Amino acid sequence: MQNSSAQFKLVDLNANNKSSAPIGLFDSGIGGLSVYLHLAQQLPAERYIYYADTLNVPYGTRDSKDIEALTLNAIDWLYQQGCKLIVIACNSASAYALEAARYRYPNLPIVGLVPALKPAVLATQTGHVAVLATKATLEGTLLNQVITEIAAPNNTTVTKYFDPLLVPWVEDGMPEHSATADTLRQRIREFASVGVDYLVLGCTHYPFFKDFLLREIKEQQLPIQIVDSGQAIAARVQHLLVVNKMLALSHNPELSQPLVFYASKYNDNLSRRVQQLVGASAEIEMLG
Ligand code: DGL
Repeated sequence: MQNSSAQFKLVDLNANNKSSAPIGLFDSGIGGLSVYLHLAQQLPAERYIYYADTLNVPYGTRDSKDIEALTLNAIDWLYQQGCKLIVIACNSASAYALEAARYRYPNLPIVGLVPALKPAVLATQTGHVAVLATKATLEGTLLNQVITEIAAPNNTTVTKYFDPLLVPWVEDGMPEHSATADTLRQRIREFASVGVDYLVLGCTHYPFFKDFLLREIKEQQLPIQIVDSGQAIAARVQHLLVVNKMLALSHNPELSQPLVFYASKYNDNLSRRVQQLVGASAEIEMLG
């Protein structure tokens, strides 16, 4: 006779009742909402629960053990909410906790982020690309593996760039008259002057200033393209839901659920900022 826990796992993995369970997203702050926007567009029938560890943001300058412990804590919480799949919508957290999270929850699909360096390497004409990311992501093995396995064999030079003020700048609403905005303007000019033609936004906070960068690129007539991972992550999530038979069944937009947003710490502006980033018409339930 088969052992009962093995039988349970088989039923658990194939059960259609998972289809109505939410997708969990995690980030140190509001950056992972850039990934949520791609998911909500590609998979509008799904329900989403978002955990923002605003008490401990930013992660990018923390040490690896700290990032791993904080991330596993968030994954535990999302798992307890009954999530059928979890996206670690943070490059820094993925770099140090993806493997440990998968080890802890072997039957739960967990998607991690790595900067979209591979498509940039395959598309560059100049053979020189830049990755903007946190210190943690730039030092992590996930990105450095892509450099060794994809960029180096393609003779592509990868310039790594880290500014510790970028994540706080996004959390604060990206004021354009600020020293951080001026530094960014100057950096893209410098990247163009050394022949960088692809800029990889390797932190989920950064796509929120993609329009700002594109405006600067246009005004300064710089030959630079920008890439990020959002679209590819949404495609990956869709694929995993299909193969695990967990895709939400309802496609009726009338029945769509609010985004449930949980923050480990609230300040006066957070709810407003989340609503701004996700769109005024989006229904959001705030937990805290
Ligand atoms: N959104 C996180 C990432 O993708 C931000 C990191 C941070 O908190 O410093 O890396």
